[in-house]
Amino acid sequence: TAIDLIGIPCDAGASRRGCIMGPEAMRIAGLADVLADLGHTVAERGDIESGGATESPAWQTPDSRKAEVLALAARSSLLALETLQEQRLPVFIGGDHSLSMGTLSGVAKHCAAINKPLFVLWVDAHGDFNTPATSETGNIHGMPLALLCGEPDFGPEYSGDWRGSVDPRNVTVFGARSIDRPERQLLEQRGVDVIDMRRIDESGVVALMRDVLAKVEQADGHLHVSLDVDVIDPGIAPGAGTPVAGGLSFREAHLVMEMIHDSGTMGSLDIVELNPYLDNGGMSARLLVDLTASLFGRQIMPRQSRRLGIE
Ligand code: ARG
Ligand code: MN
Ligand code: MN
Ligand code: MN
Repeated sequence: TAIDLIGIPCDAGASRRGCIMGPEAMRIAGLADVLADLGHTVAERGDIESGGATESPAWQTPDSRKAEVLALAARSSLLALETLQEQRLPVFIGGDHSLSMGTLSGVAKHCAAINKPLFVLWVDAHGDFNTPATSETGNIHGMPLALLCGEPDFGPEYSGDWRGSVDPRNVTVFGARSIDRPERQLLEQRGVDVIDMRRIDESGVVALMRDVLAKVEQADGHLHVSLDVDVIDPGIAPGAGTPVAGGLSFREAHLVMEMIHDSGTMGSLDIVELNPYLDNGGMSARLLVDLTASLFGRQIMPRQSRRLGIE
């Protein structure tokens, strides 16, 4: 597979600074080498121009950071579209989760152009389905999925291509364990499939992921994976700004990735919310690199896999 690694250094969508350093931490942890070692053609495309995120004069309120988030999303969207049009698989490295507004809207545009149904697997401790009206924190990284799924509560400043570019019925949130009350209501109303930790405990990763992937395969769809580091248990992945106890274990996380790989349906990927400042010397960065390796075909022992489409 031809893979483009694209850094999106931003933390203006979060209340805690630091994940602006995420892309660099992933590079230092060896992401490109690991993927090249698996036989992929890897292009390091550097960072998207962050538009002065680091010099932002007023970082205090979520509102003062909004313009920054939206400007970056616009650039990310274009780059996502362009990369997919060139038949390369984009891996976006964040950066807080607000960046997915941009990446996913670009992916959606591409899918619409080639008439391929888009499916989203949002692997996250959170639902990220708040709106400016429901959010308790005002932080935009808690809102991208709602915006993409067309929630009406967003002001005119949000009117970009991203609004409503994703069908909520094609979205699965996987690994959730922290969802705000109004957020839960919206998720239910819109028909998002939320696979929370209890369901994972009860049914196990394999049965649940089989169902998710079967739908994508049947529709010959494009799967966008948005991987938020906080889905993993903070005990083994401390580099998250909004940690929640009770996350995916090491093997559960790998198994999810391995199954996605074997389905051959993944066409684009975000890796978000890595905060190197909190990461205990790179623990989560290294884990994320290994998870990405599983996602791109690393196996313990070789086995038959059905790789469709992304060869
Ligand atoms: N639900 C909380 C909020 O709206 C937390 C969101 C955390 N999101 C994330 N991408 N880490 O602020
Ligand atoms: Mn998230
Ligand atoms: Mn999260
Ligand atoms: Mn594999």
